[in-house]
This record gives sequence, structure tokens and C-alpha cells, in this order.
Amino acid sequence: MSSTKIHALINIGTLHTFAGGPRRGEQLLDTSPIVNGAIAWDSDGRILEVGTEVEVRDKVSGGNVTWHNAGGLIVTPGLIDSHTHAVNAGSRANEFVMRCMGTEYMDILRAGGGILNSADRTREASQGQIVQVGRENLRRSLSFGVTTLEAKSGYGLDTETELKMLRAIRTLDETQSIRLKATFCGAHAIPREFKDNPDNYVDLVINEMIPKVADEKLADYCDVFIEDGVFTVDQGKRILEAGLKHGLKPKVHCDEIVPLGGTEMCVELGALSVDHLIVITDKGIDALANSETVGCLLPGTSYYLKKPYAPCRRMIDAGCLLALATDNNPGSSRTENLQWILNVACLYYGLKPEEAFSMVTINAAKALGMEGEIGSIEPGKSADLVIWDAPDLSEIPYHHGLSHVSEVVISGS
Ligand code: NIG
Ligand code: FE
Repeated sequence: MSSTKIHALINIGTLHTFAGGPRRGEQLLDTSPIVNGAIAWDSDGRILEVGTEVEVRDKVSGGNVTWHNAGGLIVTPGLIDSHTHAVNAGSRANEFVMRCMGTEYMDILRAGGGILNSADRTREASQGQIVQVGRENLRRSLSFGVTTLEAKSGYGLDTETELKMLRAIRTLDETQSIRLKATFCGAHAIPREFKDNPDNYVDLVINEMIPKVADEKLADYCDVFIEDGVFTVDQGKRILEAGLKHGLKPKVHCDEIVPLGGTEMCVELGALSVDHLIVITDKGIDALANSETVGCLLPGTSYYLKKPYAPCRRMIDAGCLLALATDNNPGSSRTENLQWILNVACLYYGLKPEEAFSMVTINAAKALGMEGEIGSIEPGKSADLVIWDAPDLSEIPYHHGLSHVSEVVISGS
């Protein structure tokens, strides 16, 4: 072993490595556990060794090792929140109250509120103010054990504000600990200015926004809200193809309220993920199951909008790759608590905790196209870890509403 500084975490009660790649079907139950485990990583935060403590001690020794003691607690990979709108401006608590009194989420958008309300606030805000909102959200995500998070634009709906949001995400990536991935979501709603000619807005997204986003290398992915009254499947396809030409991989909102065939189209385009899927059809499930596209389920949104839950068990049985995320946003799911999402997923999708954990670790990494770098504890990957103050994995969804995190490690720190 070289003389560079090495860190070793020992005395891990059970180390749930989630090694062996993304999981489908019954594989979701397998956390690839190691009892009395240990992990060693180098000063760049790359994992060198994973095994039982005896095995790891055998491989790393000497004066260049700094030993850390997990106190017999359980360890998992850092959690990955693969779908959020965590960077924005303004609260929509007033709309929450309207929804509590029975107003429908989509009716608020149709009346010029919802995403358009957030867009008004985000247009008014300075980049610094948006960064500040994002920083607070990310601080809370970290407290729940999130080590990688995807954040979308989509509250600008004009070129300048979309770029402002993505630049804010970049600043946050450089100035706080969570690893961020950015999604250009200019096609999140049709802005008021284009209400009567939405195709002109699609043209603006394709001809002006995407090239500028790509020029500044501000995003990794491209998203469209394909929904009745928002963007059609054809408009979505045009936008996603333009994104692909500029190196932005598709990650798409579809089949949330009305099934339009978005899942099938996105699978054909090779999307990294299709997200929501509350009303996915049998055809959609079949297309997804026979693909590498991940279905990213957002049970917090079903809860928050009082909607049905995605047919998760049917999708698991069909062989789909599935992830779970918070969808943290000001309107349809205002939470950073990915641990609570595990609770909702276990109860309302009927998942075992091990299945739910597979869906916020290795499968969520796949939803970001990062399954080679993060999502499991294996040599060569980033040392992103959570040490849990819990006797076993089930305790985390079971005792909900709080954080069970004892320590979080990101890139070895
Ligand atoms: O994923 N469905 C579209 N977009 C978000 C909601 C954004 C908002 O209401 O601000 C979602 O639920
Ligand atoms: Fe969303």
C-alpha cells in the first residue's frame, strides 16, 4: 500500500454496502451487508478497501492510517436525492392553505399561481438571494443524510432567470458540501407571456436557452413537465432531443396526473429517468421494464397533493429499475426529509425498508447516470457514507419525522 494518507472506519455493526450494481425485482431486498465491517479510503476520498474489520486491518496498516470508530452503528452509502427543485425563491404556504381547503394543485397553476407564482418570486430575486434559499435547503438535506442531490432550474421561464438559477446551483456546488447535479428545466410551465402560443416558448427553450446553458456548461440534464395543459409529448420530445444534441441527458416529469405516453417516448430517447409515474400505463410499465431508464418515484408528492400512489409493486414485479426522491419544491412536496420519504414509500407502496434503501442509494445513482461513482460502498467509488444512530435499517422509516443520522461523510470528509 502506498504511503499516502489513508482513513479507515472500523467497528461498523452492519455495513450495508449495496455493492453489485443497480437492483431490479427481488434484488432490491439485498443490501449486500457485511457484519463487523470496515472501510478504508485515500486522501482523495476514493474507497480503497471494504470488508470485515479483520480483512480491512489486514490490508491497511502502519503510521499513515487514521482510524475512525463507528461505535458499532450501522453504515450505508450516503443518500441520493435524485429529483429536487431545492433552489428557488418565495414560499407558497398560502397555496398550501388553499389546497388544505380543497383547491386543486393544477387549478392553482391554471389560475396563474403554482409554478408561475414561484417564477414571479424567482425572477424578482437576486442570484445571491436564490443561493441563500438553496443553501438553507441543502443544509437540511445534509442533516437527513443526503450526500448527492439533483437540483433543477424551472422557476425562471425566461432565459435570464433560468441561467440565474443554474448559476446559483453552480455557486452552491462550489461552496457547500453536498455534491450537486444540475438539471435545466426551462420547460417546467408555460409562462404567461406565451399562454396563447406555447410553441413559441418551446422554440425559445430550444433555440436560445439550451444553447446558452450548454455554452456555460451549467447543466448535466434536461427536464420537461409533460402533462395535460403543460407540455405535450411532441413538444417534450423536441426539447429533449435538442438537449441531447447539447449533451444534456433527459430526466423527465411525466405520467403524474394524466397519462400521455411520456414514459414510452422518454424510454425510446434513452432517458436517465422518468419521474412521478403516478398514472403510468401497462404499456409504460412494459417499456420501462425493458430499458435502462429509471422510474423515479416521488411518494411525498402523492401524499402532499392527496393523489394516488404510483403502482410501485407492479413496476417492481415487472422488472423496472426504480428510485425514490423527495421532489422538494415550494408547491407539491415541501420537504428535504428523504428519511421521511422512506416511511411514506414503505407504508404506501408496500416496501420493505431494504427495498426503499436500494432506491435512495444505488438505484438513485443510476437515475443520475452516476452508478459508477456513488450509490454503493465499493473500491473505486467516492467515500460517501452515513453512520446511523439506529439499531437496524427498519428503525429509520419506522420512527419518522426526525433524522437518525449520526455522521455524514462526503468524499472522505
Ligand atoms: O415535480 N410537476 C411539476 N413540477 C414539480 C412541482 C413544482 C411546483 O409546484 O413548484 C413537481 O411536482
Ligand atoms: Fe419535480
